[in-house]
Amino acid sequence: MKVEFYRHNIGEAEKERLLTALDSTFLTTGEVTYEFERNLASYLEIPATIGLMSCTAALHLALLALNIGPGDEVITTPLTFIATANTILHVGAKPVFVDVEATTGNLDVSLVESAITDKTKAILPVHLYGHMCDMQALRTIADKHNLKIIEDAAHCLEGVRDGFRPGQLGDAVCFSFYATKSITCGEGGAIGVRDVQLIDILRKLSLHGMSHSAADRYHGRYQHWEMELAGWKYNLSNIQAALLIPQLARVEEYLSRREEICKRYEKAFMDLPGVSFPKVLPNTKSGRHLFTIWVDPQVRDEKMFELQAAGINVAVNYRAIHLLKFYREEFNFLPGSFPVAEKIGNSTITLPLYSKLTDEEVNYVIETVRKTLPQRGS
Ligand SMILES: Cc1ncc(COP(=O)(O)O)c(C=O)c1O
Repeated sequence: MKVEFYRHNIGEAEKERLLTALDSTFLTTGEVTYEFERNLASYLEIPATIGLMSCTAALHLALLALNIGPGDEVITTPLTFIATANTILHVGAKPVFVDVEATTGNLDVSLVESAITDKTKAILPVHLYGHMCDMQALRTIADKHNLKIIEDAAHCLEGVRDGFRPGQLGDAVCFSFYATKSITCGEGGAIGVRDVQLIDILRKLSLHGMSHSAADRYHGRYQHWEMELAGWKYNLSNIQAALLIPQLARVEEYLSRREEICKRYEKAFMDLPGVSFPKVLPNTKSGRHLFTIWVDPQVRDEKMFELQAAGINVAVNYRAIHLLKFYREEFNFLPGSFPVAEKIGNSTITLPLYSKLTDEEVNYVIETVRKTLPQRGS
């Protein structure tokens, strides 16, 4: 049997919306994008969102709109996808890594204050695998030190912790609709903010700094536009939004299937020697984006290849990024700098998890993992 790492859940409703969008005059950012933005804000219960072409773009614009730039420091996690830290570099600021919790892999909030200097301007937590960071504790620290919080919620559209959702305590929240995310249009993203005054500058930053988008200028007499600031080309099109709208309406349905699968994985691997996995903490609803198992780092790669040979497509999310060539050389990081993130990064194997995974496929993954792990001889 072959089990894909990911299969999207784009069906008839998405195809129908897409055809309607294709039949309209306006293919780029317009009414369909705005409808998606309103639906997303309403789902998250935050004041406003803007659709963008990626979460990377969202993180970049969040940093810019919050005035973070050269000479500033931003505290973040080394256990994430490189986009998180790269965008800090994009604005000329310095990523300052803080180690992670051994239970969840999320930024260890108890270490954040000791990393704050007079250059620190923001904290950029990542809700890893769909499990939210302790946002209440982070908000308290940020308020005490006058810092902004930008949430990387690329994995966590659906999460809730202590009654708060992504974007409800941060100054900006960033989402991804990349090909393997819980809702997807191939490439896409969004930013959400609590302060609606940021929306105007974010919208302009997303479209060359122009005062009016093409859609805004489409009706009535031609209006000249002004270039008000140096912006980027990060806008989400009507075509992408058409794919996202029906998926967003089913996001909780998709999540309950992933939750069911995770429960089965957890039950099956709980007693497996040499295997552990991140915990979902009390008062937390995880977005269940990725299911990772942690195994002995000595055998991780070998076991991963065995799973692949048995037809199960797996991945590694993530090797700690401070030890990747660029960060290691640029900032002189040595192994041991962030031991918990390194240990998780060297132990982790991500198993298939998506709403279209069938019971038969789940059974096969469980059976194969139980056969392949633990180590030979244990
Ligand atoms: C934690 C995290 N942050 C940011 C990103 C970047 O998202 P995008 O590909 O939409 O730019 C990803 C993408 O996978 C991610 O996993």
